[in-house]
Amino acid sequence: MKLGKDYIMHSELALPYLETPEDHIIKTLETLQTKFGLKKDSKQKLIDLGSGDGRVVIYAGLNYGILSIGYEINPDLVKEALEHKELLKKEKKYKNKYLRKIKIKRGDLFTLNLKNYDFIYIYSLPTMQSFLHHVFKTAKSEAIFISYKYPLDQFETYLKLEYKIKHQTDNQENYSYFYRMMEKKL
Ligand SMILES: C[S@@+](CC[C@H](N)C(=O)[O-])C[C@H]1O[C@@H](n2cnc3c(N)ncnc32)[C@H](O)[C@@H]1O
Repeated sequence: MKLGKDYIMHSELALPYLETPEDHIIKTLETLQTKFGLKKDSKQKLIDLGSGDGRVVIYAGLNYGILSIGYEINPDLVKEALEHKELLKKEKKYKNKYLRKIKIKRGDLFTLNLKNYDFIYIYSLPTMQSFLHHVFKTAKSEAIFISYKYPLDQFETYLKLEYKIKHQTDNQENYSYFYRMMEKKL
């Protein structure tokens, strides 16, 4: 699908680029492993909705060997993420089999179907959450949503808050919130 300039600009205003700090990503993935069944080198899949410079999916793919897909609307950030991946290819310690698990795609998160994903990462703003229902509702039962910094307060009818972790950086406190998609009623 072709994304118009106005649409991209509007998306970036509604949800600007802000990055999850590296140490918060590490702790979040550790929590997924210890509490939510993330298994290294398994067939599980993770997606980052609005993946910025790709840091979450690059970390997940390299360190956990699961298929990790980032969707990002901003072409410059997609380029940056792909360049980062290319650089990693030159470092011998990163095996190609792990790099192949990292996919960065240019696209609009509002058009996605999440049915194939076990772990769904999002760093969004409370102001845009009400527009996410049609996307979130496509996730399978038991899928785990991870929301960085802001709780997903408007989704209680189908997302159950199971856990949260506190990140402390200098004087700042942030949380990652872990939700489980409830059983779907037929
Ligand atoms: C707060 S940043 C989070 C970046 C990354 N996930 C992280 O945690 O480091 C949100 C990202 O979503 C992207 N974005 C905004 N609207 C989008 C849309 N409609 N589709 C895909 N990405 C979008 C922005 O360009 C930005 O990079």
